[in-house]
Amino acid sequence: MKALVLSSSPRRNGNSALLAEAVSEGLAEAGHEAEFVFADDFLHGFLRDCRKCRKPDGECSIEDGFRSVFLDRYLPADGFIAATPIYWYGSSAQLKAFFDRTFCYYAASYPGSAEVIQAMQGKRIGLVLSSEETFPMVSGAVICQIQEFSRYTHSDFVGVVHGYGNARGDVLRDPGEPMKAARRFGMEFFTRHTSDYQIDTVRSGRVWG
Ligand SMILES: Cc1cc2nc3c(=O)[nH]c(=O)nc-3n(C[C@H](O)[C@H](O)[C@H](O)COP(=O)(O)O)c2cc1C
Repeated sequence: MKALVLSSSPRRNGNSALLAEAVSEGLAEAGHEAEFVFADDFLHGFLRDCRKCRKPDGECSIEDGFRSVFLDRYLPADGFIAATPIYWYGSSAQLKAFFDRTFCYYAASYPGSAEVIQAMQGKRIGLVLSSEETFPMVSGAVICQIQEFSRYTHSDFVGVVHGYGNARGDVLRDPGEPMKAARRFGMEFFTRHTSDYQIDTVRSGRVWG
């Protein structure tokens, strides 16, 4: 399987990037193809008003690398893992911009929107977080966002790895051992059990075995 790992902190050697690298290593160890990208390398602007800035041929006119990462790496991937620090109880602006900018390609005014909408569906999605604070709801907003994105795109939200730290490398000393969890998350990413039942879902009373 193919996975795209997006590291969206401006700190390339920061805590969320370390965790994201460990997820990548786990994916590779399990025999998957893992591509690791830094948001700052290809995302150089926010979504604008498409009516004003879309080119006459329907292409987005924002001249950065988002088009190629989104079309050539995100859409063909079977899985997507987003890594972000908690910033003001939300995600980094880079990660938010990544999701916002997908609009340029699934909006009806983009000539290939039908194919894009098709390819945005059915992925496995994971979330990697780092934060200074440890209280559970520090990550609530980001988890809700990714869960809703997954639901909206008919994707499976596989889970979250959360490391605690502030200074670069702090997650390496987190007694909860998030680096180990991240590696294991990568290894199990395409096989880990996920569920999101509805009242009429046919199921056995047991989760395991
Ligand atoms: C602008 C900014 C906002 C932050 N907001 C929070 C916050 O709301 N809660 C928290 O626990 N940590 C917050 N932090 C701390 C970071 O989440 C923490 O340092 C994290 O480990 C950074 O990850 P990184 O090394 O991948 O960039 C903030 C840091 C910055 C720079």
